Amino acid sequence: MTVQADLVPRIISMTNQVGGSGKSTSAVNLGAQLADFGYTVLVVDADDQCDASVALGYEYPDDLPDQKTIYHCLTEKETKLSEAIVPALCGPHGEEGTKVIDNLFLVLGSGEMENAEQHLTTTMGRELWLKNLLEPVKGDFDVVLIDCPGSLGLVVIGAILASDEVIACIKPGYKELRGLTRIEQKIEMVKDTFGANGAHADLSGVLLVDVPTHRSQGAVWDDGKKMAQETYGDLVLPAVRRSTKIPESYAHQKVLLYFDRAGEATSDYLAVAKGMGFKRLTKR
Ligand SMILES: Nc1ncnc2c1ncn2[C@@H]1O[C@H](COP(=O)(O)OP(=O)(O)O)[C@@H](O)[C@H]1O
Ligand SMILES: [Mg+2]
Repeated sequence: MTVQADLVPRIISMTNQVGGSGKSTSAVNLGAQLADFGYTVLVVDADDQCDASVALGYEYPDDLPDQKTIYHCLTEKETKLSEAIVPALCGPHGEEGTKVIDNLFLVLGSGEMENAEQHLTTTMGRELWLKNLLEPVKGDFDVVLIDCPGSLGLVVIGAILASDEVIACIKPGYKELRGLTRIEQKIEMVKDTFGANGAHADLSGVLLVDVPTHRSQGAVWDDGKKMAQETYGDLVLPAVRRSTKIPESYAHQKVLLYFDRAGEATSDYLAVAKGMGFKRLTKR
């Protein structure tokens, strides 16, 4: 795992071309862990499923009055990304007892992002959409985590182009690992084509997340881990075990750190954060 400690902020895309591979779970829980370490963190919800927004307290981001979302920023020239940034919450927005999570911010997602690919197709300089939006705000953050949709379309190309690092979140398994080569090809393509525009991200980490599948757990998980290590060596980050606390914490709209502070999955994301070279900041 390459540590780019000198880069401020570190802009990191959480990718995989399929859904259900742990991207959103990892973006929000890693983000919360880094915020707890003392970094100022921005989670960008670029997926029309809006799972990162839901997990950080905003169940219906499109319904908030007078509030911009990432879709407005994408489609309206005059709307700045800063207008779509809200504090991350522990608990549902508007409910009694819900608290703001210190140091953690969110670019609100939008269900309308399902139209993003179509919009981008007819936009000049489309691949640069997220890089351009991030430019004026990135200096305010130490870490930006982009939660990508489960595709490799223009939204994701824009995310990779805007990033310093790309993490592939995958379920352990032969088929899933094979799918990783498609992400690697996309990353290379972005670098080759847009190097002059600043594209420089490499695959910097492979994060195995044991999301529930119909297949049996134990043997598949062990084989998958071994295969990943053989192929990707040091890029393989500490794995995230299967835990019922993950869907439960999502349902309560509370990140693991506050939902189950001493739990296994919480400690797994702590290990991931450390594996990426982050540590608790003592002074600023
Ligand atoms: N380690 C885990 N253990 C159990 N369930 C998990 C785990 N990681 C993710 N999940 C669940 O699996 C589903 C897919 O995860 P998610 O992070 O939304 O994937 P993606 O963003 O790649 O589509 C969600 O319902 C989530 O709560
Ligand atoms: Mg997701």
